[in-house]
Amino acid sequence: MRKIEIAPSVLSLDYSIFEKQCADLNQSSAHYLHFDVMDGHFVPNLTFGPDILKGFRKACPNMILDVHLMVDDPDMFIEAFVNAGADLITFHYEACTSHEEIKKILAKIHSYGIKAGLVIKPKTDVSVLFDFLDQCDLILVMSVEPGFGGQKFMESSLDKVKALRKRIDESSLSCLIEIDGGINDITASFAIEAGADVLVAGSYVFKGDIQQQINHLYKTR
Ligand code: DX5
Ligand code: ZN
Repeated sequence: MRKIEIAPSVLSLDYSIFEKQCADLNQSSAHYLHFDVMDGHFVPNLTFGPDILKGFRKACPNMILDVHLMVDDPDMFIEAFVNAGADLITFHYEACTSHEEIKKILAKIHSYGIKAGLVIKPKTDVSVLFDFLDQCDLILVMSVEPGFGGQKFMESSLDKVKALRKRIDESSLSCLIEIDGGINDITASFAIEAGADVLVAGSYVFKGDIQQQINHLYKTR
């Protein structure tokens, strides 16, 4: 059976009790921490820069810091997020203008000794990713329009996950599949069944006791 990982998204963390929430995350069974970077151009919202990631690096020393770049110019920010402690950086296919640019950015992230991946928005065809799977440690499939937490899960994302699972398994690749947006105790089971390895969950994890909410996501198996 595939190992399923949960990636709580700090977009929904309660920053008025930052230390307590980080302590709970550290002690939880989640190994990934999902960090959404929004620049106000690629998506209509603004979030965090590298200095905030440094805080999470200190507060959650053993978690895998999963940086999801929703920015127009991903190349510009890679070094800063690597220096701030990122373990994995994903960037959007839609932010790039050519295959060469995508390959160059993936290679650049890898040159720092961390993991790299590509993300697609809900309206982007999954087949655009096929040329890059052998260079990606992870593919992130968006199951909502990127920009905000708390949106409704788009079921059309499940066919993309299935297509990726098939392609990755048939080619014996080790690339993981992550899904992001609208994950709760019901949609988590659909995502796992379709073939996802890593489930990002923001509003669902932080709306109650962190470990209990994570348990509900695992229980869907
Ligand atoms: C949305 C972000 C997500 C967000 C998910 O653009 O990429 O990571 O935090 O939030 P929920 O789980 O509430 O849909
Ligand atoms: Zn995200």
